[in-house]
Amino acid sequence: MLSSISGRSVIVTGASKGIGKGIARVFANQGAKVLVVARNMDGAQACAEEIGNGAKAFAADVASWDDCQAMAQAAVDSFGGLDILCANAGVYPQTNIEDMDPAEWDLVMGTNLKGNFLTVKACLPHLKQSDQGRVVLTSSITGPVTGFPGWSHYGASKSGQLGFMRTACIELAKFGITMNAVLPGNIITEGLEGLGEDYLGTMAASIPLKKLGVVEDIGNAALFLASKEANYITGQTIIVDGGQILPESLEALE
Ligand SMILES: NC(=O)c1ccc[n+]([C@@H]2O[C@H](COP(=O)([O-])OP(=O)(O)OC[C@H]3O[C@@H](n4cnc5c(N)ncnc54)[C@H](OP(=O)(O)O)[C@@H]3O)[C@@H](O)[C@H]2O)c1
Repeated sequence: MLSSISGRSVIVTGASKGIGKGIARVFANQGAKVLVVARNMDGAQACAEEIGNGAKAFAADVASWDDCQAMAQAAVDSFGGLDILCANAGVYPQTNIEDMDPAEWDLVMGTNLKGNFLTVKACLPHLKQSDQGRVVLTSSITGPVTGFPGWSHYGASKSGQLGFMRTACIELAKFGITMNAVLPGNIITEGLEGLGEDYLGTMAASIPLKKLGVVEDIGNAALFLASKEANYITGQTIIVDGGQILPESLEALE
């Protein structure tokens, strides 16, 4: 049993749906006060109302420095401080290099990688005031461990997050703040559900546990990294993928 996270002030970016919503729900269920952040206010508001426990919504684009500063201040104004940042917002358009507009590269890097820098920088002055400052990044197996056609920019951004983390966690350590990353495998989200049962079945077949993950699997890993018990873990990664990266060949799955 982990120590209570009840009453902690948490920002979750990219929380109106998908993995971010799962993270937000897991924290809210533990009694944390969650600021649900997405660009679209209606989506953020609907999520905040659904997860309850006093969650509030805020509209911000993590690629905007002004928005990130306003987001951090909103958490402090709403909840009296900031203890935990879950930097989860990310985009993953799928385009091969031959066809990729350079602007798409910039969009992915600006959201996934620069967005991590901007959110951490904006939240840092407030996290320093906490006695349990935590940053949890959502990276991916794609990039740090695996590759997939069409996701060269995405994989680079997800690997870049880990490079950023390995220096940032040293800088943050002197304030008692830890910073770690969760690397999801294939997680069922609203977007994936629309791809149909055949597609999902093929994906599940490549995973040793023979099923896709659910968003709460990522939320629970983030919750552990944000807990008091994880206070001596920093700059590390947890892969949550049902064993997906392990098989050497299809034979290994028979
Ligand atoms: N799903 C997977 O299987 C999987 C696997 C590995 C890693 N991941 C990572 O997990 C994270 C979430 O993925 P997901 O599949 O849950 O995505 P999703 O279902 O597409 O949801 C993305 C969320 O991020 C928000 N968002 C997008 N761009 C934003 C921006 N610039 N500023 C603020 N919010 C923004 C979206 O709301 P708005 O559009 O309103 O802004 C939405 O709430 C990403 O970092 C992704 O790389 C996902």
